[in-house]
Amino acid sequence: MHVPFVDLKIQAVEMRAEFDAAFTSVTQRAAYTMGPELRQFEEAFAAFCGCDHAVGVSSGTDAVKLALIAAGVRPGDDVIVPANTFIATAEAVSHVGATPVFVDCLESNGLMDTAAVGPAVTPRTTAVVPVHLYGQPVDMDALAEVASAHGLAVVEDACQAHGALYKGRPVGSFGVTAAFSFYPGKNLGALGDGGAVTTNDRAAAETARLYRNHGQEDKHTHRVAGYCDRLHNLQAALLLVKLPHLAAWNEARRAVARDYDSALAGRHGVTVTRVGDEVTAVYHLYVVKVEDRDGVRERLGERGVESGIHYPVPLHLQPAYTVLEYSPGDFPVAELRAERILSLPMFPEIDQTQRAYVVTALEQALA
Ligand SMILES: Cc1ncc(COP(=O)(O)O)c(C=O)c1O
Repeated sequence: MHVPFVDLKIQAVEMRAEFDAAFTSVTQRAAYTMGPELRQFEEAFAAFCGCDHAVGVSSGTDAVKLALIAAGVRPGDDVIVPANTFIATAEAVSHVGATPVFVDCLESNGLMDTAAVGPAVTPRTTAVVPVHLYGQPVDMDALAEVASAHGLAVVEDACQAHGALYKGRPVGSFGVTAAFSFYPGKNLGALGDGGAVTTNDRAAAETARLYRNHGQEDKHTHRVAGYCDRLHNLQAALLLVKLPHLAAWNEARRAVARDYDSALAGRHGVTVTRVGDEVTAVYHLYVVKVEDRDGVRERLGERGVESGIHYPVPLHLQPAYTVLEYSPGDFPVAELRAERILSLPMFPEIDQTQRAYVVTALEQALA
């Protein structure tokens, strides 16, 4: 049996007719940028996130960048980000002209260690970026406390966590601003790149809108030198087709995670990620820790089971950030996890036979 890591074709087939209708509607009007579907999607996505505003942008990376700008981050600032995240979180900080300051993660779940934030603050630190990695919310109470003690803006990176809840409240509604990605493989994926900035702050929303579209206030008036970072109207129309299904897809992911958890918890040689009672995770990824990870991964592959590593190199050790002069050993938890973590196949439609096969293949690979 072959079990893919994700299977994006299933939804494409199921939604073909609705996608075709959306495509025809947009192309008949040739409304490709800043059209009505974009505004409709922004309203619907803001409501989904429990926020007053959503601003559709060109990618998750640009969403983090614009969220930082809208939260007041400026060139020369320091911004605290976890060492264990996708590089885009730190890249966005660099794109603003600010400097990422890395902190370690928690052994139990790989999320930012909020206790490490205070000690990492410098006189130039203006913001902190909690990343709701794998679809699990960061401890936002602890983060809010440290951010407020140091006067830091909280900018959430919710690119892997559409619909995740912390104490019953959706991620994306905690920070001054937050960023989402609609990269195709995400819990809500476009048919290409896309992203959104969410916020409850009207001024921040206006800043994100201004910067995403060349700083344009009125036609031919450009208040700031902005970017070409718009979410295409066609992608917004396709996302509008998918958004009503997102809650059910997230529920399906949780069911898959429950099956994996009950089959794997307590097994010798594998440690599942424990998700706290105060959060509702959306399992963008299902991550376990194993010894001899690369060997296990290879043996899984031989049995037809695809897997991933998120992420094999913590950001402080990436060539792109040698300039910051971190060394191996600076963030031991992130470094150790990077050697052991393994992401198993996870998508809403993975069926019972495939799940059972993944578990059996993993048990054999561990033996
Ligand atoms: C945590 C995190 N931040 C930011 C991004 C960037 O999103 P995009 O690929 O849409 O630019 C991603 C996407 O992989 C991500 O996982």
